[in-house]
Amino acid sequence: MERCGPAPGPGHKRSENKKPLRVKVISLGSAEVGKSCIIKRYCEKRFVPKYLATIGIDYGVTKLQVRDREIRVNIFDMAGQPFFYEVRNEFYKDTQGVILAYDVGQKDSFDALESWLDEMKQELGPHGNMENIVFVVCANKIDCGKRRVVDESEGRLWAESRGFHYFETSAQSGEGINEMFQLFFSSILDMCENGKRPQSSVSLGFTKEQADTIRRIRNSKDSWEILGMKPGASRDEVNKAYRKMAMLLHPDKCLAPGSEDAFKAVVNARTVLLKNIK
Ligand code: GTP
Ligand code: MG
Repeated sequence: MERCGPAPGPGHKRSENKKPLRVKVISLGSAEVGKSCIIKRYCEKRFVPKYLATIGIDYGVTKLQVRDREIRVNIFDMAGQPFFYEVRNEFYKDTQGVILAYDVGQKDSFDALESWLDEMKQELGPHGNMENIVFVVCANKIDCGKRRVVDESEGRLWAESRGFHYFETSAQSGEGINEMFQLFFSSILDMCENGKRPQSSVSLGFTKEQADTIRRIRNSKDSWEILGMKPGASRDEVNKAYRKMAMLLHPDKCLAPGSEDAFKAVVNARTVLLKNIK
């Protein structure tokens, strides 16, 4: 397989530049989130409602044109079932793109994204470089309506704070699928031509501290926790914590997904606590 390397030097002939680019992409994510269906929807324009678990790995090829370049893609569709680890681990290396999928109706599959990254990191070993890989997070099954438990801002925050693309998809209706693949492949082409993952395509309008604070607020059980305090604090202490968090999360200053809801939660928490402190 032709390796995807840095851009050719100035003396490089343009015609050579136009030979097809061969890339390898893999799909990752828990069992039954829809990885195979996402790929099938894109490659075969169809949807299969019956669950047919991938056994180990499925392999397919597709080709497409991005700008003036033909791209030949080898797709390795991984099985999400934990017991296929021994089969999956062979296939992580020499990858230029990863589709990281979860089911918006299954919180566990969202929580598992981190462990999929860990598995990949572990298999690539200490010299593996995750920076030169394009990741796209698919929040799949958005057609599931009321069953949805992971909202857009939560998924987007997780993805964008890591420099990953984020797409809401439905393999069933096709929503988001072509857009996701187009951006995925054009980012891979950019990366191959520039030698590193393009940063500009996912520009961060927020800091790690803002992202971590929004996540912490989302997981808080009461108003004390929202303000990051222990019960029993004084009015002054509550106001001080409130001011600090309001500055950090004010929607005018913070572009992180979910910042508006987090800001509202902070305002509410302060109101509730001040009512009860003499
Ligand atoms: P493993 O191969 O076991 O890792 O699973 P997978 O992630 O490849 O899941 P697969 O694509 O086989 O889909 C699992 C089930 O979810 C199937 O019954 C699909 O029909 C269904 N499914 C996949 N995508 C969607 C979707 O966008 N919406 C709905 N409603 N169902 C979907
Ligand atoms: Mg599958």
